[in-house]
Amino acid sequence: MSQSAERIAITNQKGGAGKTTTTINVAGALSRRGYDVLVIDLDPQGHATEGLGFGDSYDARDRDSLYEVLPDLDRLDELESLVVTHDEMDLVPSHQRMINIEDELANARRREERLGMLLDDADTAWDVVLVDCPPNLGILTDNAVVATGQVLIPAQARSTSIRAIEQLFRQLRSIETAFDDVDELGLVANEVGTDGEAEEMMDWFKETFENKEHCEVFEIRKRVALQRAWNNGVSIFAHGEECDMEAEYDAIAGHLEEVTDV
Ligand SMILES: Nc1ncnc2c1ncn2[C@@H]1O[C@H](COP(=O)(O)OP(=O)(O)OP(=O)(O)O)[C@@H](O)[C@H]1O
Ligand SMILES: [Mg+2]
Repeated sequence: MSQSAERIAITNQKGGAGKTTTTINVAGALSRRGYDVLVIDLDPQGHATEGLGFGDSYDARDRDSLYEVLPDLDRLDELESLVVTHDEMDLVPSHQRMINIEDELANARRREERLGMLLDDADTAWDVVLVDCPPNLGILTDNAVVATGQVLIPAQARSTSIRAIEQLFRQLRSIETAFDDVDELGLVANEVGTDGEAEEMMDWFKETFENKEHCEVFEIRKRVALQRAWNNGVSIFAHGEECDMEAEYDAIAGHLEEVTDV
């Protein structure tokens, strides 16, 4: 793959933090800015795959997927064969078989490096690769973080997010001791309400993230238009409905332009 491709993992092991919504809409924003974007759905639940309209690929019996390719060192040059094309971006879909992939990788050599090797061996020069992570801190998330070295962290503005983020930081630092540095590029507060808890959490996010070198805090509110875009298989940018959150997703894309080599 061209050296200029920027890779970013969207990660938070807490379920429902907004990873997939962030992935799809940041991909849409980058695509709108003219970049070639590849989304990798690394979540065995396949929500990004489904949310981009590729539910058939998720269920297809006769189609190879990351499940067949990642555990097989001889097949790590096959990324392109897994890619499907969406109007706004390319996608490596998840597959229902992915539920078992962590078992397949458990005893594999260089098991946390497989996704990075797959990307290194690709010929296509995407500008940006976004990896939507599953809601756990297992081998798949390790693969995403090792492959990208840069993370965008979505989180709900609720006090239960604090413990999850502290645990995520410990995991990132432990990955750094074994592999390369990991850069936090942003915290995307998601479904932010107007209650006191949300306000307190926005303060906590700012205190915790804004002193990191390349990191900014973004605020996405709850909007049914985002849900409807998802149901339509597109990002908010390709969805024919005005939504004030487009500006915030575009600001995230602008920040990524600034702090990475996108
Ligand atoms: N800002 C928002 N406004 C309205 N609905 C939202 C918003 N963000 C997320 N949702 C909805 O909340 C649900 C959870 O969000 P999402 O799937 O993005 O989280 P996730 O972290 O990817 O979840 P999982 O851990 O299951 O992968 C989805 O149904 C999504 O459409
Ligand atoms: Mg998800």
